[in-house]
Amino acid sequence: MHAVRRPFVGGNWKMNGDLASAVELADDVCAALGAEGIDRTIDVAVYPPFPYLFTAGRALGHSNVLLGGQDCSAEVGGAFTGQVSAGMLTDVGCRSVVIGHSERRHGLHEGHALLHEKLHLACESGLTVVYCVGETADERRRGEADTVVAHQIRHGFGTLPADRVARVVVAYEPVWAIGTGVNATPEDAQAMHASIRGLLGSLYDSRFAAQARIIYGGSVNAKNARAIFDQPDVDGGLIGGASLKADDFVAICRAAAEAWSGAPGH
Ligand code: 13P
Repeated sequence: MHAVRRPFVGGNWKMNGDLASAVELADDVCAALGAEGIDRTIDVAVYPPFPYLFTAGRALGHSNVLLGGQDCSAEVGGAFTGQVSAGMLTDVGCRSVVIGHSERRHGLHEGHALLHEKLHLACESGLTVVYCVGETADERRRGEADTVVAHQIRHGFGTLPADRVARVVVAYEPVWAIGTGVNATPEDAQAMHASIRGLLGSLYDSRFAAQARIIYGGSVNAKNARAIFDQPDVDGGLIGGASLKADDFVAICRAAAEAWSGAPGH
């Protein structure tokens, strides 16, 4: 981790749990982070399922933990059955949104143009966008990982000016590492993060690239988090399975805070 960039750790709850467990998890996470002051040192966000956002947000209360949506529409409003706009997310207290998760890119065939429009509208609404990119196992095997990720970034950011996208957090989530228990090695994550940062430098400028947060997702757990977060271009993580257990998620947030402060690893 680099001292100039404040770490960001997100808990993507995906389509898990029920109302009661969402409230309990939000309660437990913000109480534990607050007790240790971790949510004042680093940025932490949780992304509950849509129906639980408002109530989970209430449970977070005045803590510094950000509430976020797992997706938003590429439309502002109107006859779009089943969709949720960026404005609706801010209305229920969200300050962040995940866009381009592989479970939507690949699972729901969301394409470049759609994701660019979502990113654009979410930024306009003042949300901190976590924009996910990542290659499949086949693409990596064919040596195409860098090209695929670069393509996703170029299309996502499009021609949006630097001031509009300054708060976008890029999440590198190799598809083969999501939910598999096989995380990218810290060295592989670092190599991809460095190449993403280089690309942001060429799309914008070196100052933009130096300030951009690039986080890693894919089978991060309480044990492997610190080694990944210790890499100079890794600025935190997007956590799936391990974010559903308060103790594990808090341990991962603690690892990010310790990596940032340079505290010795365990
Ligand atoms: P896992 O941590 O369960 O691998 O999921 C990662 C992820 O998809 C976060 O968005």
